[in-house]
Amino acid sequence: MAPRVRLAVPLVPTVEEELRRLFDARPELEGADGAVTMPTDRVDAAFFDRAGPQLRIVAQHAVGLDNVDLAEAERRGIAVSNTPGVLTEATAELTIALMLALLRRVAEGDRLIRRRESWVWQPNFMLGEGLAGKRLGIVGMGRIGDTVARLAEAHGMRVQAMRGLDGVEDVDVLTLHCPLTEETRHLVDEAALARMKPTAVLVNAARGPIVDEAALARAIRDGVIAGAALDVFEREPEVTEALLELENVVLVPHLGSATRAAREAMGMLCVDALRAVLLEGRRPANAVV
Ligand code: 8YV
Repeated sequence: MAPRVRLAVPLVPTVEEELRRLFDARPELEGADGAVTMPTDRVDAAFFDRAGPQLRIVAQHAVGLDNVDLAEAERRGIAVSNTPGVLTEATAELTIALMLALLRRVAEGDRLIRRRESWVWQPNFMLGEGLAGKRLGIVGMGRIGDTVARLAEAHGMRVQAMRGLDGVEDVDVLTLHCPLTEETRHLVDEAALARMKPTAVLVNAARGPIVDEAALARAIRDGVIAGAALDVFEREPEVTEALLELENVVLVPHLGSATRAAREAMGMLCVDALRAVLLEGRRPANAVV
C-alpha cells in the first residue's frame, strides 16, 4: 500500500500528478505518514499530535520555515524539508518589480486609469524616482539577498549589505530578505522607521511580522518615509486597513515565488523529499531536520 500523504491544497498539476502516482494523497492529516505543508499551516506539537506517531516527514512547500517548530520535529524524529534555491530568482525578481512599481508609480498609475480619471501628459505629471544611483540597503544577504544585489546593480543601484539596521539612515530603498525569527520580529518598527530618510522606501518580500505594519502605515501617512511595497503581511492574508488608503504603497498577495517554473520546482522538491523518506528510507537532500 502506498504511504499516506496529507495534501490540503492543490499543487501545480504536473507535481500533483507525480505525488498521486507515488502516494495515497488525502486532505486529512490524521494517520498521514508524510505531509505537504504551506507557510499558512501552523506545524507544531498539536499538528504532530493530530497526525499521529506514524508521521515521518513534513515537506514544507516554501523556503521559509518560521511556521514550523523544528525543535519539536527533531525531538519526535520527524524529518523536515524545505525548498531552497529554486525560488531565488523569482523572489529577487519580484523584489525589483516592487521597487519599480512603487518608485515609478506603476500601480498608482494603473489605479488612476481604472478610476477613469482624466489625465494628459504634462512635464510634471506623476513624476517618480529611478533606481539608478539609489542606495539599496539589503537586510539578509542569503541566496535571495545576493540575487537582489545582482539585479539591483544591473539597474545601477549602489548596494549596501546591512548588518541588522546599521546605516539605515543612508539608504534610499531598504529591502528585507532575512528569515522571520525572534530576533527579526518587528525589526522595522517605529524607531527604525524614524531613522530612515523621509525620501526612503521599504520593500518587504520576506515575512510580514519583520515589519510593525501599524507603525509603517503611520510613518508613511506622516511622511516619516516616502512609501512601501509589500508582498507579505503581518497577519496574512489580512492587511492593515490604513495601508489601503495610501497611494504611495504597493501591495501584492505573497507572489514572491509565484512563477510557474518556481512553483513546479518547489513542488517537485517536496515530492523528492517525501519519496526519500517514505519510499527509499533515506534523508532528503533538502532536509533541515
Ligand atoms: C511562499 C515563501 O510561501 O518560500 C517561501 O518561504 O514565502 C513563498 O515561496 C510559497 O510559495 C508558498 O508555497
